[in-house]
Amino acid sequence: MTLAHPIATEPTLPSARGPLSATVIDLLAERAPHGHLQRIESSVGDADPYGLDLQLALAVCYELHYSGFRGVDSGWEWNAGLLHLRGRLEDLFLDALRRDVGPITADDTAEAEMTRLSVEPTSGNGPTWHFLKDGTWEQVQEYFVHRSIYHLKEGDPHAWAIPRLRGRAKAAFVAVEFDEFGGGRASEIHQELFADLLAASGLDSSYLGYMDYAVGETLVAVNLMSMFGLHRSLRGAAVGHFAATEITSPSGSQRMVRALKRLGGPDEAIKFYAEHVEADAVHEQIVRTDVVGDLVMREPRVEADVIFGMRAFDFVEDRLADHMVRSWTQGTTSLRRPLDD
Ligand SMILES: [Fe+2]
Ligand SMILES: [Fe+2]
Repeated sequence: MTLAHPIATEPTLPSARGPLSATVIDLLAERAPHGHLQRIESSVGDADPYGLDLQLALAVCYELHYSGFRGVDSGWEWNAGLLHLRGRLEDLFLDALRRDVGPITADDTAEAEMTRLSVEPTSGNGPTWHFLKDGTWEQVQEYFVHRSIYHLKEGDPHAWAIPRLRGRAKAAFVAVEFDEFGGGRASEIHQELFADLLAASGLDSSYLGYMDYAVGETLVAVNLMSMFGLHRSLRGAAVGHFAATEITSPSGSQRMVRALKRLGGPDEAIKFYAEHVEADAVHEQIVRTDVVGDLVMREPRVEADVIFGMRAFDFVEDRLADHMVRSWTQGTTSLRRPLDD
């Protein structure tokens, strides 16, 4: 049996982009200390919560819970000193998100929020709209590169929420995740479909292969999911984020199918988005009624966080979309460094 993509070897550590990421990355080159709490000093307070340095530091900390890094002692995953530093980065990130998302009032409901998200826009400014009209194939490749950080671990960050759910919400959540993970077929795992898309598009399909090309906006969108997933206290936000992803996916994926056909993109790329048009239309219904509906009935206290998760999704996705289109309008790459570098 041959494998479509070589067995994922652990990714290599990315290069630092400032003092915080340098602190974390330099530390991981050492052996994890055992048996005592060693404070890691770093001046976190004045860092930009959405900046590349802080987000890269956070992404590296989170990656210890996913695939880890080549040559890095896996003991760092639960190192108290590193977790303490990660907690300070998360506090800054979460405070900024709560501030930018704004207050959630007693009149706001998850149901109304989902109705808002499910209204199909007839126009927009994001990359998928741009690709429909005058985007170039090179810009689509850049879009794939940004998205690769997430899609090569698609389904994983949300999976942390499973043990935090009960009953119907849990059953329905897992049913949707089952599809994300290929419904029992390895070749249909969405992560694999995206690796196929990358390879067919002349890009590197290795896991985190484009970490050094990511900008702050790219990492914010992925770190948001990891942060929500890894904290039980944020389970409502994790579910809200999951719901927003599923609800908004069909229309964006439909635009990608049309744009890829216009640009003569490879079949593998069309397949990835076509799969999301079909599957996510079904997922949307399951998520609305059985996951979110059941969760907020069971745990009314988390409803505000479900809404927060949906709005935070919107906020970070819009930032990334704006960054991409703004860069292209200015005639520059949206990546930290150009692809042909
Ligand atoms: Fe998917
Ligand atoms: Fe889905």
